[in-house]
Amino acid sequence: MKIDAVTIFPDYFAPLQLSLLGKAAAIGLLEFGVHDLRQHSTNVHNQVDDTPYGGGAGMVMMPEVWGQALDALLTPDSDLIILTPAGKRFNQPMAQEFSRASHLVFACGRYEGIDDRVRQYYLSKGHRVHEVSIGDYVLGGGEVASLVMIEAITRLIPGVLGNPESLAEESHNSEGYLEYPNFTKPQKWREISVPEILLSGNHAEIAKWRAAQAIERAKNNF
Ligand code: ADE
Repeated sequence: MKIDAVTIFPDYFAPLQLSLLGKAAAIGLLEFGVHDLRQHSTNVHNQVDDTPYGGGAGMVMMPEVWGQALDALLTPDSDLIILTPAGKRFNQPMAQEFSRASHLVFACGRYEGIDDRVRQYYLSKGHRVHEVSIGDYVLGGGEVASLVMIEAITRLIPGVLGNPESLAEESHNSEGYLEYPNFTKPQKWREISVPEILLSGNHAEIAKWRAAQAIERAKNNF
């Protein structure tokens, strides 16, 4: 999978070189491109934003620079992801869906976001355009949100995760994540023992216990 990110802060994407993502890139499973939006500015001060039409606080990112940057990256195979707190909420099924894509382009807005005509234009040209939020809070920009999405998406690509069995186990759960509590050695830590059932070797009973724990946990999170 090819992943491009457009940002005014390319340094935010340094973590892509670390850990499993770095390894996946090194063996060619993933290909990352990080692009400085300011390189497309035609303004002497490399300005990329301006005041909003209609008034109001903050600045809006100008369509011209974004157009230049995205024209250079998008092909008919691309999915354009625009990060915004107003977007569709990112979740595990969405991560699954994106993990099957061949080219993701992350547009990281800052300030009050990107001029909406950028979204409109690429939609009108037949591109797949997704406005996505990673949660109901406002970040300083889309960079961290992109990293969150990239990590959740790429670990679902066969070969990226060190231990493929962890993925297989997750898929037993419809939402795709582990919900039961986990324990490792030592068997007793600070007077707290690992639940007896996990030492029993009875896999059917362990599975039942884990399912019950998962339901209990889910209840507490809603
Ligand atoms: N940009 C600012 N806040 C965001 C959020 N919650 N999700 C995605 N992009 C954002």
